[in-house]
Amino acid sequence: MNPAAVEPFHAMAISRAAHAMESAGQSVIHMEFGQPSTGAPPAAIAAAHASLDADAGGYRESPALRARIAAMYAERHGVAVDPERIVLTGGASPALTLALAALFVPGDAIAFVRPGYVAYRNGILALGRVPVEIAADASTRFQMAARHVLALNPAPAGIIVASPANPTGSMIPAADMAALAAAARGRSIRIISDEIYHGLTYGEPAHSMLEFAPDAIVINSFSKYWSMPGWRLGWVVAPPGTADHLRAYIGSLFLTPPSLAQAAALVAMDETPVLQAYHDTYRRNRALLLAALPAMGVTRIAPPDGAFYIWADVGDFTNDSMDFCQRLLADTGVAIAPGIDFDPVDGHRFVRLSFAVSTDRAAEAMARLGAWLQKGAPA
Ligand SMILES: Cc1ncc(COP(=O)(O)O)c(C=O)c1O
Repeated sequence: MNPAAVEPFHAMAISRAAHAMESAGQSVIHMEFGQPSTGAPPAAIAAAHASLDADAGGYRESPALRARIAAMYAERHGVAVDPERIVLTGGASPALTLALAALFVPGDAIAFVRPGYVAYRNGILALGRVPVEIAADASTRFQMAARHVLALNPAPAGIIVASPANPTGSMIPAADMAALAAAARGRSIRIISDEIYHGLTYGEPAHSMLEFAPDAIVINSFSKYWSMPGWRLGWVVAPPGTADHLRAYIGSLFLTPPSLAQAAALVAMDETPVLQAYHDTYRRNRALLLAALPAMGVTRIAPPDGAFYIWADVGDFTNDSMDFCQRLLADTGVAIAPGIDFDPVDGHRFVRLSFAVSTDRAAEAMARLGAWLQKGAPA
């Protein structure tokens, strides 16, 4: 067995318990995963039906989808990307695995911030690379900054950044991203930029790391903005000269992502009005939670710039976020994620609420949480 200390994703245990309650007939509101409740845009679903009728499917990467994704970098970011550099994967998770496996070697140190997405630490460990956690605080909105990169000694082989980030939803302003890219370049550190929450921002649009570091390894997916997590489709923008190398690895690790998902995703990419409506729901939910949580005594929350999460300090109510989430679920049917998934050091007093649900469900969750906290989060 691989001796790497890969911790379970604790939100999975919450989710399993939540589904068991639902099967037993109880009313549950799922806010534990960053999983849009909306489903794929209807035109994408229709395209999938048509594809099933007309096409046997198979092991292939859609050239049309690669070209469409490449065009998105030109449209959104003014960056020219050769479609050959778009390597399709079964989501951002395989994209990250592929990047770590093919572009780093065992023993390479890879730095990322805490709090951060759980799979960074675990994926790095599982592949025999070495995780280096940077404790980020409110001064950089829990993001990595150039000064962190310059202070790392020795220089790691790579860094992972995400803007917007999970679990905080915070973003890196353009000037800071440029400084970060320059600091990494100066120390020959490869950048993995996880851009999975692009498209889901509430103020300024997100910048791609490709604008500042043309050789960054960018990963992205259809799971969030396009509301297609179960379709398992994403991509890596391979740094120039590495696409063949990545394809050699993907051929051995995963072959190709589902052809059905590729047919649907190509259509989803142009369903802007539908996607805008999903985004409007998140915007409403964000405002609702930002008003409701302080009113119930959860005051230490940072308004997210993007994604669909609130990272909330519940230290006034608990010192054990997993126990807090289990009791909240059992008492109210509201499922949220414990902070220990994202921050092994301070996460015991944080929780993450995903607001990728309908506004009715978000409002009902706030009513249940508020009543429960008023009783003092009873044990
Ligand atoms: C920051 C981040 N990266 C990657 C992923 C993996 O997404 P997927 O494999 O569904 O594309 C997630 C999922 O929640 C995430 O939050």
